[in-house]
Amino acid sequence: MSTNDIGLAIVGAGGWGKNHVRVFASMPGVSLKYVCDKSEKVREAVGRTYPNVQVIDDLSIALSDPSVHGVVVATDARSHHPLALAALRAGKDVFVEKPLTLSAATSAELCDLADTQNRILMVGHLLLYHPAVELLRSIIDSGELGEVLYLYAERLNLGVVRRDENAWWSLAPHDVSLAHYLLGADATSVSASGGVFLQREAGIEDVVFATLDIPGGRLAHVHVSWLDPHKTRRLTVVGSKKMAVFDDGSADQKLALFDKGVEPPPSLTYAEGVRVRTGDIRIPALRMAEPLGRECEAFIKAIRTREAPLATGRSGLAVVKVLEAGARSLSEQGRRVSTSS
Ligand SMILES: NC(=O)c1ccc[n+]([C@@H]2O[C@H](COP(=O)([O-])OP(=O)(O)OC[C@H]3O[C@@H](n4cnc5c(N)ncnc54)[C@H](O)[C@@H]3O)[C@@H](O)[C@H]2O)c1
Repeated sequence: MSTNDIGLAIVGAGGWGKNHVRVFASMPGVSLKYVCDKSEKVREAVGRTYPNVQVIDDLSIALSDPSVHGVVVATDARSHHPLALAALRAGKDVFVEKPLTLSAATSAELCDLADTQNRILMVGHLLLYHPAVELLRSIIDSGELGEVLYLYAERLNLGVVRRDENAWWSLAPHDVSLAHYLLGADATSVSASGGVFLQREAGIEDVVFATLDIPGGRLAHVHVSWLDPHKTRRLTVVGSKKMAVFDDGSADQKLALFDKGVEPPPSLTYAEGVRVRTGDIRIPALRMAEPLGRECEAFIKAIRTREAPLATGRSGLAVVKVLEAGARSLSEQGRRVSTSS
């Protein structure tokens, strides 16, 4: 360890947080000092694999250590707000897994506190760090797709069935954050319908279909489910000139560009109709790198440079506004709910 190292603490080393532990424990220029988890089983497992890391059950020990610069919060979503708040109040830079918190009010509180304390607040919108998404965004920015008209995302699988949150809060943050990033705008309203099949008494939705209204008459549709025969993680973007598909389930064709479109003749008459153009499909070369590794590096870079990362706390807030409006719509039979209400 060198004096230049960034000192880190991770709280939550369960199913996903253990991946943060793995990545940060071997990252050059980083000293993973503490892993905090309230589960004894998790603490024992971390202690066995990483004997140089202090394993604790109380985050305040790490928060009072001045050699800890950053805190990674990878616990279940309910505890994101209190843990991130405590870390920011202790003067730490903070990375919070998705969703940032469970309400727009608590997410806004974290963003405001980070701003006034001049601290980094980053949210775990992992897919923003996916090389295919980075390329897709640059293709959209170049105008190659033309005007982006709408997009839709499918995130489906059989399991993992969560007991503490529904499929909307568990899975949709990925797709809502993609829509926010690729369309470059906040959704204005959300209409969502869902089905409760596996945990009827708890009323937990297993499948959700949601439509987001995006300024400019654009649409984003999100279909999430853990009760589906397909294992699908796919996003389709339809532009006025070309269309694109990001298929994260594909090993070698993660991004495909379709030279397809529909062109109205200059003066449309009923007899003329529209002209359909179907051209080539292009699979752009992609330099793959683990998105989680890139995301973790982005947090360290933000701590060092004091420059905001791509996945800012404010983008976390924008996503939570959509999730919250969608949750309200779900409970009101799909009523279109404003994200600012
Ligand atoms: N980016 C991704 O692709 C991705 C994937 C899966 C999960 N996640 C997110 O990661 C987070 C964790 O999910 P998970 O699947 O690992 O959950 P998990 O339940 O497997 O693990 C959570 C861990 O946090 C610990 N914990 C909870 N509250 C704590 C507290 N107050 N203090 C100390 N430890 C505490 C628990 O003991 C548990 O070990 C969630 O926010 C989830 O949405 C992100």
